[in-house]
Amino acid sequence: MGFLRNTKEMLLHAQREGYAVPAFNIHNLETIKTVVETANELRSPVILAATPGTMDFAGRAYIQAIAETAAKLHDIPIALHLDHHTTYESIFESLQLGTKSVMIDASHKPFEENVALTKKVVEIAHEYGATVEAELGKLVGQEDDLTVDEKDAIYTDPDLAVEFVERTGVDSLAVAIGTAHGLYKSEPKLDFERLAKIRSLVHVPLVLHGASGVPVKDVQKCIELGCAKVNISTELKIPFSNGLRDYLLVHPEETDPRKYMKPAKEAMREMVIEKIIMCKSNGRV
Ligand code: 13P
Repeated sequence: MGFLRNTKEMLLHAQREGYAVPAFNIHNLETIKTVVETANELRSPVILAATPGTMDFAGRAYIQAIAETAAKLHDIPIALHLDHHTTYESIFESLQLGTKSVMIDASHKPFEENVALTKKVVEIAHEYGATVEAELGKLVGQEDDLTVDEKDAIYTDPDLAVEFVERTGVDSLAVAIGTAHGLYKSEPKLDFERLAKIRSLVHVPLVLHGASGVPVKDVQKCIELGCAKVNISTELKIPFSNGLRDYLLVHPEETDPRKYMKPAKEAMREMVIEKIIMCKSNGRV
């Protein structure tokens, strides 16, 4: 058995104790190490989220192996989670490699098709001891190649959410309540009432996507209202890139990745600390 976990116990514990497990999007060895080492320092459970774009970029087997090594080296709960995967085939490939936590995102499809594909993924994932997150509703913004315009955004319908969870058997549900992937042009207005209603009807842990740029108080309110997993991507990419850019601007002659990656990792580390504290997941291990 590998060292990577599925997210069942992690999310149920967070739900019971009133915090959220942060899911940080990672892209390579540097970002995985930064996230895991920082989570370990803060004694926080952590989810490493990899989109199809990341798998294409870094290689599915490489990401799996690096995450597995990270989980072996640290005694905190660590899950590698497939973020926004849209096909059965890509998920199956990762299940065979040992991934224990997957998201099937068929939220762009009509309801019945979303149910059918999600159910199919749940059946195979559970056979492999993996947990499944799915999404109902549509978030604005861009994640990998999936782009949703403002006019096409759909908030999660609480009654449909109940039906969706019952019919698919998913382990967690990503909800659309006004957050977006990427940064915001103005402060987002979240539909807390809708979230509370979903929470009162649906009993699996809820997932908040698009947390970058959402004020801390709003994310924490979502956690209080039942979001047990909070996804953060853009806000980690920014300090990593800034750290790298700033260093190379001052040292344009530098060619050693071991030198110029350092400030990028350090800047990202600061943000990981901030987000772990926002999720109140520090000191939970
Ligand atoms: P942000 O890039 O807005 O943080 O969204 C992350 C996300 O939801 C990944 O699934």
